[in-house]
Amino acid sequence: MKYQDSKSKIDTPKKILKVNHAGEFGAINIYRSQIFFSKIFMKDLVPLLESFLEDEKRHLELFWDEIKRRNGIKCKSYYLCGLGGYAMGFISSLLGRKGIMACTWAVESVVVDHLKGQLLYLMQVNDTQAYETVKSILDDEINHREEGLQKGGTSNVFYQPLRCAISVFTEGVIRFGMR
Ligand SMILES: [Fe+2]
Ligand SMILES: [Fe+2]
Repeated sequence: MKYQDSKSKIDTPKKILKVNHAGEFGAINIYRSQIFFSKIFMKDLVPLLESFLEDEKRHLELFWDEIKRRNGIKCKSYYLCGLGGYAMGFISSLLGRKGIMACTWAVESVVVDHLKGQLLYLMQVNDTQAYETVKSILDDEINHREEGLQKGGTSNVFYQPLRCAISVFTEGVIRFGMR
């Protein structure tokens, strides 16, 4: 998606920050529900998922701090992201470790693409503070995506519909939040 100047009252940098903030809430819920199931069925995955969760909590705080500095508000898609996150974490957990990794890979791939588009836009409009905030989480999200890939996130062909559905949903909530 190409990020452009906003036509509404809320400027694009503010929108980017609130959409990302909502996305982090969604990610927190994905990893929380996956950790819940992994503790019962796939204990070896728990440390990795917990490290992802810690990253997402830190990201949430970073975006919220920057939103507050600009007197911004929570995104209209905040609770939709939260609910979607739980649902994706739940469904992917039912499909086992490859399902969990397919979810991670699919979500984080969409996220990384968007972050890169956001950075391009924020550089053009010279919003250094928002740029630095987005930039500071990019490496973590790339790492999440790569872990998902290495641990078999794309290896099961039967999970292609799951990956597709997750990509479409993630892309959809981001676009909805940016409107
Ligand atoms: Fe994150
Ligand atoms: Fe992430």
